[in-house]
Amino acid sequence: MTKIQAIRGMNDVLPDETPLWQWMEATVQRVVSRYGYREIRFPVLEQTQLFTRSIGAVTDIVEKEMYSFDDRNGDNLSLRPEGTAVCVRAAEQHGLLYNQQQRLWYKGPMFRHERPQKGRYRQFHQLGVEAYGMSGPDIDAEVILLSARLLQELGLGQAVSLQINNIGSAEDRQQFGAALLDYLRGREEELDADSRRRLQANPLRILDSKAPQTQAVLKEAPLLAQYLSPESQVHYEELKLLLQATGVQFEENPLLVRGLDYYNNAVFEWVTSSLGAQGTVCAGGRYDTLVEKLGGRPNPAVGFAIGLERLILLLQTLTTQAQSLPQPADVSLVVDKSRDMAAALALAERMRTRWPELKVLCHCGGGKVSTQLKKAYNDGSRLAVIYAEASTGDSDRVRLRRLDETGEQWPVEVSDLMEQLEKELERF
Ligand code: HAM
Repeated sequence: MTKIQAIRGMNDVLPDETPLWQWMEATVQRVVSRYGYREIRFPVLEQTQLFTRSIGAVTDIVEKEMYSFDDRNGDNLSLRPEGTAVCVRAAEQHGLLYNQQQRLWYKGPMFRHERPQKGRYRQFHQLGVEAYGMSGPDIDAEVILLSARLLQELGLGQAVSLQINNIGSAEDRQQFGAALLDYLRGREEELDADSRRRLQANPLRILDSKAPQTQAVLKEAPLLAQYLSPESQVHYEELKLLLQATGVQFEENPLLVRGLDYYNNAVFEWVTSSLGAQGTVCAGGRYDTLVEKLGGRPNPAVGFAIGLERLILLLQTLTTQAQSLPQPADVSLVVDKSRDMAAALALAERMRTRWPELKVLCHCGGGKVSTQLKKAYNDGSRLAVIYAEASTGDSDRVRLRRLDETGEQWPVEVSDLMEQLEKELERF
């Protein structure tokens, strides 16, 4: 019978890799809570129209990448391709945005039917932060400072660089869009088929086109910079001053346009050259009109999301963090079959009750004492309690063995075991 395999682009994270994930997740969660962000959790399935209305109907995500289906009631649902729209939906639904400022964070799997390659998957994980109710560039700067600290504390500060851009307000982009449309209509027959299709629905997306004939047309197109309103220029200039004053280095990239429609004004990305084509590890910006677009009262917002798989790839390529990760066990209980397994399990339970931080591994399933001891060494245990009659010749005794280079071991009365262990654990 053929074995069933995981779906292409959806990865298992194996036990050898989870310590790095846990360390990374704990680090990023600690950083976001130090900035006053509180966790929000929401479903992985939502109404499809939540994403069509927020990310935009004419975007790669909505047009080509969503996992959408009709459920048994005939409702069209989609696995969430990102968290911002869902965060707005949830916060708005539960009244968190009414006359309030909110700093929220979330973490979890997102789903996009992209072509899988290194750093790009169909199920991937994001950590996102979203700040609501603050319209000034100060919160943009704080959000960027938070992302910078996060990367710094993971030891990745040197591996990434920050790019920023001003994509203007919705009105600026509308005016620019109209001018662009005028210009492109005049040269419609020179565009590639995809761009011609986008001409009606969303001419701004044509700027992302990779088709050489369209790129040639775009060379002479009007520039967004010529249509930025004074307010959005002031906002952006102030943000740059705040970043300079707080020591955040950045590069302005006028080509930085995000692939989701809800952004306005300042957008940013942390990029690396160490991951090949998938170089963006963190991306975000302002999205001041999204709450209203999804039915709420106008509420300014800014946020970003980090791709956790890309962080892991970077950590694996660049740092040795994995070596200092916690070991799977502190004490191993080695039991040979002549002993009462129930007594061994009960002893392990007593140890876990007395020392809640201690990791105790009880060897189940029998096997030779020497094999179990070898496994205890490999598991990283520092001490073995050997529960084997043959070794002591006395059913009331066990042996303690230090699993260090000395390999010292000695017999202990069962009644004295907890006291002896206490002394040994103090040496850890
Ligand atoms: P995004 O640029 O679509 O933005 O994704 C954010 C990050 O998620 C990317 O920079 C990348 O690290 C990671 N990512 C995206 N797609 C994949 C994939 N197929 N495989 C692996 N990693 C991926 C958003 O999702 C916005 N919601 C960010 C945001 C939050 N803006 C404001 N608040």
